[in-house]
Formats: sequence, C-alpha cells, structure tokens
Amino acid sequence: MVGEARVPMLPQAPNTVWRAEVNDRSVEVLAPSNAILLDVLRDNVGQLGVKRGCDLGTCGCCAVLVDGEPRLSCMTLAGDVEGRAITTVEGLAEGHHLAPIQTCFAEHGGSQCGFCTPGFLISAQALLDQTSSPTEAQVNEAIEGNLCRCTGYQPIVESIMAAAALLRGETEAPAPPTDPHADPHPSGPEEPQLPPGHAR
Ligand code: FES
Ligand code: FES
Repeated sequence: MVGEARVPMLPQAPNTVWRAEVNDRSVEVLAPSNAILLDVLRDNVGQLGVKRGCDLGTCGCCAVLVDGEPRLSCMTLAGDVEGRAITTVEGLAEGHHLAPIQTCFAEHGGSQCGFCTPGFLISAQALLDQTSSPTEAQVNEAIEGNLCRCTGYQPIVESIMAAAALLRGETEAPAPPTDPHADPHPSGPEEPQLPPGHAR
C-alpha cells in the first residue's frame, strides 16, 4: 500500500570486515556477518570465476580450495573461513602461464560451454596436489560432486589423467600458439547502424 513502511522478511545482518588470503593476496572487504563465501568471493572480492550453479550444494560449480581442501563455497559461511588461504580458479595459473590442469582441459576437450569448468579444475587440482599418479577410479571419485551437461565426463577424466602425466614429466606441455588469432575488431566494433528513418 502506498506510504506503508516495508518490513524486510529477513533481518539485515550488519556488515563486518572479512579478511582472508585469496589467490595469494590479502583481501579485506566489508560483507554481511552472515554472508556466504560464494557471495563474498564474487560480489566483494571480484573473483567471478567462482560460478553459482545450483546454490544448493549439488553441482560443484562453486568449488574453491580452502587451505588446499576443496569446499563448496555456496555451502560455506564466509566467517567460517576467515583468515584462511582460499584459491579460486583465477589462482591456478601462474601469471600468464596456465596450470597443467588448465592446459590439459583445453587440449583434451575437458571444457565445452565452460560453466562447470572452474569447479572441475578446482576438484582436479585438489587431487593432483595429493598425487600425480591418480588411478581413473580416484579421478572419478574426486569429481563425483561436479556436474557437467556438455562433455559426457570422459574428456574431463582424460584431461585430468593427461595433467597427471604432464606433472610426472612423461609428456611435454604443448607449445604455445605462435600464430594467435587476429583480433576481429582491431579498432573496436563499428558504430551500430540504425534503420532508415531512425536517425538520432
Ligand atoms: S552452486 Fe554450489 S554446489 Fe552448485
Ligand atoms: S562444459 Fe558445459 S556444463 Fe560442463
């Protein structure tokens, strides 16, 4: 009704300072004291590689490493991991050099639409941090909490096995492309054309 005060359904939690090491960087942000880690990482820290799939703990898209252990950030209170070392998919690469697991996903078709890929990369990295000689059963177990609608999973398993072989030194990383694709818009996209009679 016009002029009637609106009462929020849920009481607004007060903002507090949240601190952690995110991708080897000390961060300090203001966030509601009851904030979910997924929201803090995306909205306050700006790590948009952490994907919100289901928000229910069933898809694995939001996985991050907390002190090296995979965790679902949609199921984690930010306050519970305050001060800990958090790695998102953005933290896997070393500068401009992709991590072996990222290279192998790209080389072996482990990623198609890519929405699930950050979660798979995190789960796979957690496994490879424990062993560079995983069995296929261990790979399946490591990614059992991650859902993918595109790949059929086998290319993902192959990508992780290939990354393990790369880490063991049994294969070589593919050479970086020497002929990068030309920029289709070297001077920016053209001004959109308005239909006749619609001049501004
Ligand atoms: S968004 Fe966290 S498990 Fe799906
Ligand atoms: S690559 Fe599309 S959902 Fe996995």
